[in-house]
Amino acid sequence: MKKVAIVIGTRPEVIKLAPVYLELKKSKVLKPILINTGQHREMVDEMLKWFHIKEDFNLKLMEKSQSLAGITSKVVHSLTATFKKVKPDVVIVEGDTASVMAASIAAFYMKIPIAHVEAGLRTNNIYNPFPEEMARRVVSQLATYHFAPTQNAVMNLKKEGIINNVYLTGNTVIDALFYTEHKIKEVEKYRKDIEKAFCGLDFKKYKVVLVTMHRRENFGRSHSEIAKVFIKILDSFPEVALLLPLHKNPSVRDIIRPILEKHPRVVLTEPLGYVPFVYAMKNSYLILSDSGGVQEEAPSLGKPVLVLRTNTERPEGINAGCAKLVGVNPKTIFSETKKLLMNKKSYSRMSQTKNPYGNGKASKKIVKILSKMESPKELNF
Ligand code: UD1
Ligand code: UDP
Repeated sequence: MKKVAIVIGTRPEVIKLAPVYLELKKSKVLKPILINTGQHREMVDEMLKWFHIKEDFNLKLMEKSQSLAGITSKVVHSLTATFKKVKPDVVIVEGDTASVMAASIAAFYMKIPIAHVEAGLRTNNIYNPFPEEMARRVVSQLATYHFAPTQNAVMNLKKEGIINNVYLTGNTVIDALFYTEHKIKEVEKYRKDIEKAFCGLDFKKYKVVLVTMHRRENFGRSHSEIAKVFIKILDSFPEVALLLPLHKNPSVRDIIRPILEKHPRVVLTEPLGYVPFVYAMKNSYLILSDSGGVQEEAPSLGKPVLVLRTNTERPEGINAGCAKLVGVNPKTIFSETKKLLMNKKSYSRMSQTKNPYGNGKASKKIVKILSKMESPKELNF
C-alpha cells in the first residue's frame, strides 16, 4: 500500500481534509497517516472529535500569540523529522495556512510529491489576505497534484503556467457539510451539545445574525470598528440577536469582547464544534464573516453572507449573488445589513442562489485520482 501523509494544522484544514481522510480509510491501495502540526490546539481537537478521527502524530507546536516566523520554522523542522519516520509516498495539504506552506517546503526538500487540495484560489494581492495569498502561491509552485475546487481556480493556475496534474474536483468543504447536516438530523444525539453551545439563545424568538472574524488584515482598528457597528445594528433592530463564536486568537478576542460582552442580545461563545456551528448557520437569518470556509458553506444552506473583507479569493459566491463584499467600513456594513433585514426582495434574492462550490463528491474524486498515481517523473518547466 502507498503511504499518504495528510497534514493538518488548523480548524479549516481538519474540516476540509476529514472527508478525504475518511475516504482514504476505505482504500485498498492507499494508507492514510494523519499528521497534526498542532498549529491550533483546542480548535483542532474539537474538530477531530466531531469527525471521530484520531491523528497518528501530533507535533504540538502551538504557542500563545505565536509569530508567523516561529510557527513556520517549527513546522518545517518537526515535519521533516516526522516525514523521515513515516516515509510517505505523497503528502496531502489543504489551503493556505502556515502549516500548509511549511509542510510543502519540508516535503519538497525531501522530494516527496505534494497533493494540494483547494488549489488555485487567488486575490492577486500578496498582502491581502496576509499571509495566505503568498502561502498558496508557494504551495502551487511546489505541488505535483493540484485539486482545484472551481473552474475559476483552474483558470488561475493556468494563468501562472500550472497545467500538469490540475484536476477540477469541487471543494471538500461541501462533503464535510453534507456529512454534518446528515448528523444534525439525528438531533437527539447532539441536542445537549447544541443547546449548551448557544448559551440558551432562542433562534425562534430572534433574527439571529451569526458573525465570525479572525483575519489578520482586520486586526485592531477594523475589528473594533466592526464590533461597534454591531451595537448600532442591535440598537436599531430589537428583533436581532448576535451570535459570535470568538476565535481563540488573543489579537481577535481581546479587542472584540470588551465592546460586545455587556449587550443583552449578544451571545459570545468559545469556538463552536462543527455540528453546532452548522446548526447555527442553518438557523441564523444572516451571516457576517471574514472566513473563507463560511463563504463556501453558507450558499449551500441558503444563507446570505456579507463578507467583512475588501477582497476575496472566492468570487464564485459574489458572482452567483449569495455573498456580498461589504469591506470593513462601518457605514457600508450597517446599510447592507439593514437592507437584508428590511428588504424581503434583496434577502430572498441572496438566499436562493445555487451553491457554486461543489456537489459533495470532491473527496471521492481526489482519492480516485490519487489511487491511480504513478511515481511522478521529473517535472520540467
Ligand atoms: C490561522 C491561519 C489562517 C486561518 C485560520 C483559521 C496562518 C498564518 N493563519 O490563523 O490562515 O484562516 O488559522 O482559523 O496559518 N489559538 C489558541 N487555540 C487554538 C488556536 C489558536 O489559543 O486552538 C491562539 C494562540 O494564541 C495562537 C493564536 O491563536 O498563537 C494564533 O493562531 P495562528 O494559527 O497563528 O493564527 P490564526 O489567526 O488562528
Ligand atoms: N467553524 C466552526 N466553528 C466556529 C467557527 C467556524 O466549526 O465557531 C467552521 C466553519 O464552518 C468553517 C471553518 O470553521 O468550515 C472556517 O474556519 P475559519 O473561519 O477559522 O478559517 P478560514 O476558512 O477563514 O481559513
